Amino acid sequence: MSASRVASGARDGDAKRVSRSAPARLHPSIDVPGEYRVMRVGVLLAPRDGAVPPSAAAVVIDVLRATSTLSAARAHGAARILPAASPEEAAALRRQHPGALLCGERESLKIPGFDLGNSPLEYDPARVAGRTLIFCSTNGSRALVSASRARRRLLGAFVNARAVIEALEGEREVMVVCAGNRGAPSLEDAACAGLLCERLERRGAVVGGGAARLARSLAPRDAAEVQAVVQGSAHGRELRALGARYAADVEWCAELDRLGGADAIELGG
Ligand code: MLT
Repeated sequence: MSASRVASGARDGDAKRVSRSAPARLHPSIDVPGEYRVMRVGVLLAPRDGAVPPSAAAVVIDVLRATSTLSAARAHGAARILPAASPEEAAALRRQHPGALLCGERESLKIPGFDLGNSPLEYDPARVAGRTLIFCSTNGSRALVSASRARRRLLGAFVNARAVIEALEGEREVMVVCAGNRGAPSLEDAACAGLLCERLERRGAVVGGGAARLARSLAPRDAAEVQAVVQGSAHGRELRALGARYAADVEWCAELDRLGGADAIELGG
């Protein structure tokens, strides 16, 4: 039976049989209950567009720059990441973890008194290996906090896209959460969600819902298109206008599949 027949369920005898023992509707994009035989994938174009089901694996995406940067930090040996929704929450977390590094940005700049900002190029092994990072950014860390009820949270970005797909092997319920920008969708996050959906579909996953269809239509076809989308996005242009260091960040975040390995996608700890 096709996914759409199952999802449209109520008039379908087979679908009724499947759903009798099922939990209540989880999410418009992932509402096929019970034992999923194939992976179901939904997309939120911004965190406030919906809730992440506790049973799902959440892939949180903030291409520019939070999840690209955190992915670099983990690939370079950071022990774990504690996302904070605000600088105040970050400071409170540091009181509980006095050895941790305070990291993050406001208006793209390092927060005064913090150890590191939000450039992936700052997070080299000499700074971060073995360390706990308390991380606070305008959109990315809030999206990570918004997904904290999920069974598992992964860092999604273009730089670690292949590693994310590999890490999702065996999952039956995936919610891709785009950080967006101050509550609104952003092109680079939606395009990255689309690329992940497209790669998961190729492995047999069922991608559902209007947000996922929109994201899917934005999926870049190759590494050159990833560069074009990220560089040309509103946030990409804003960062590049801040100077060469920021332009280098944008270029770094737009390099498809540059990071491998399981560490580049998990929060750790
Ligand atoms: C964010 O979380 O909003 C971004 O990572 C901001 C930035 O690029 O510094």
